[in-house]
Amino acid sequence: MFRRFRRLRTHKTIRDMTTQTRLHKDDFVYPLFVKEGKFDKIEVLSMPGVYQMDIETIVSEVAQLVDIGIKAVLLFGIPDHKDEIGSECMSDNSLIARTIIAIKKKFPDIYVITDLCFCEYTSHGHCGVLDETTGAVDNDKTLLNSSTQALVHVKAGADMIAPSGMMDGIVATLRHTLDTHGYTDIPIMSYSTKFASAFYGPFRDVAQSSPDKGDRKSYQMSVANRLEAIEESLEDEAQGADMLMVKPALSFLDIIRDIKNSTNLPIVAYNVSGEYAMLKLAGAKGLLDYDKVMFETLLSMKRAGASIIITYHAKEICRLLDR
Ligand code: PBG
Repeated sequence: MFRRFRRLRTHKTIRDMTTQTRLHKDDFVYPLFVKEGKFDKIEVLSMPGVYQMDIETIVSEVAQLVDIGIKAVLLFGIPDHKDEIGSECMSDNSLIARTIIAIKKKFPDIYVITDLCFCEYTSHGHCGVLDETTGAVDNDKTLLNSSTQALVHVKAGADMIAPSGMMDGIVATLRHTLDTHGYTDIPIMSYSTKFASAFYGPFRDVAQSSPDKGDRKSYQMSVANRLEAIEESLEDEAQGADMLMVKPALSFLDIIRDIKNSTNLPIVAYNVSGEYAMLKLAGAKGLLDYDKVMFETLLSMKRAGASIIITYHAKEICRLLDR
């Protein structure tokens, strides 16, 4: 009687048959950073194994991903030209547009999700247009520009857009824009619960998107607020989001579960740059068994309730799952 679970652990077959959470290659989205220019690729010091790549190199990288069995990517752009409003990303010839076109020409089946934000494109590094008098991000002006950016992405062939700037009303605005331009089938993955986290540090190195002054606390959420976190996601669901995201993942597994229990939409966990860097560096120093902690970490996100995990480990975990 009391040995019930032990009995189910005695033989590998029954252990496998009663496994309650599994990782599968279909679970993962791999982030890609495209940078303007011709230079092949540049490794990011704070994220070993992660590179800024030029368009040509991104296309060969996608060839490798297809080979490994990764089906979806999340695209970020690092432009040469930055200005007050981030105009680079609002032109039909933007870096991201050219990249999507180049990828889709060779690999029409890879699922391309685009991060929709302005911090990589603005000279001040904030996620939108600044109000001239207050210096704070002007929510509504940023919404207008986000619509332009979204249309640039989908016209170039993006399969899904992922607004990450945390502007109020962004999902409803983008849904309306997509629908009125005939893109009714393009889903929106909302960065619906995005905390003002210190775990984004390495990303801001890669994406060259640190704010020159101030922080993102007026538009990103306090890490202490659980109910607000749930509410933010449910609000995006009401506005028409097709998927909800929790970011970062590892220090917010409780929130992933809370939101999972409050919605029927798929939940996405963003296993962010700082989480990746911790495991990488500890693994490199021999302090942890990298493969095992990577597996355990990603499994915890799935177990918490995520259907999809955006992760810099995607290539490694898929190779591990093959073995
Ligand atoms: C915003 C954006 C950020 C990340 C993804 N999209 C940075 C931020 O919010 O400051 C962080 C991802 C990571 O840390 O891996 N464009």
